[in-house]
Amino acid sequence: MSPRKIIIDTDPGQDDAVAILLALGSPEELDLLGITCVAGNVPLERTSINARITCEAAGRSDIPVFAGRSAPLARALVTAEHVHGKTGLDGPELIPPQMPLQDQNGVDFIINTLRREAPGSVTLCPLGPLSNIADALQRAPDIAERIQEIVLMGGAYFEVGNITPAAEFNIYVDPEAADIVLKSGVKITMMPLDVTHKALATRPRIEAIRALNSRVGTFTAEMLDFFERFDVEKYGSEGGPLHDPCVIAYLIRPDLFSGRKVNVEIETKSELTLGMTVADWWGVTDRSPNAMFMGDLDADGFFALITERLARL
Ligand code: RIB
Ligand code: CA
Repeated sequence: MSPRKIIIDTDPGQDDAVAILLALGSPEELDLLGITCVAGNVPLERTSINARITCEAAGRSDIPVFAGRSAPLARALVTAEHVHGKTGLDGPELIPPQMPLQDQNGVDFIINTLRREAPGSVTLCPLGPLSNIADALQRAPDIAERIQEIVLMGGAYFEVGNITPAAEFNIYVDPEAADIVLKSGVKITMMPLDVTHKALATRPRIEAIRALNSRVGTFTAEMLDFFERFDVEKYGSEGGPLHDPCVIAYLIRPDLFSGRKVNVEIETKSELTLGMTVADWWGVTDRSPNAMFMGDLDADGFFALITERLARL
């Protein structure tokens, strides 16, 4: 079976970086057409540097990296340096990237790629705020029917919010964008906090990655050493949740995950619950299901996959 064509849209972020590395370590399953960067965890200038640092750590400076939107569609940017550090990739020593950014804007790359590739042959993998994806859908409505699937990290229901009591960060930063994406009619699979909070990078799991004794293994372990401190302190958990790699792992091993197709709508009006993903888990409304909302995963299988694929880089 030929590898699945994907575009990763991302705001690196240590967990985004692990997701990119997992994709690069899985060429049989995934054909990474390009990486489009968005403002989120840190400003765009930094996310587009971090994406290139990650590609170079894997020896893949051939991957085209594009800068997309530097701000949400209709709001001021909210960032998360308190989680990811000032650089967004705190932990390892960060060497400024040698590979250039592509000249083309990331949103144009998404539109042009979807118009060029066969309809239904490209999957979008947003790992940050949905600003680039929504902008592309608004500027080029014709691409919606050409997208094979959107597999995104974002949202929360039973797990409640992480940036406010009601909202998960990616959705909260650009709720208008999330609303556009969820109403687009595109096939959507969501990895909310409900599942990513079960993907904890515990100390034994981090040490298994460090034991790869490779540039990528050490780079990843040092990122996770830093990344865990915020969540361990906040939740008292045994490690930091590896949110974004859930998107890529799902494309490689969907059997590791389970969820339910439900209706999900986005709060875009109330300041109290702005960015909340209102998931009709029990089907109490007549709103039609529009997303596969994941709720569980095989965490040991997930980390075994990550470790095995990072070993290839
Ligand atoms: O809420 C977790 C999400 O926000 C992850 O994608 C993390 O990288 C940040 O972007
Ligand atoms: Ca992210």
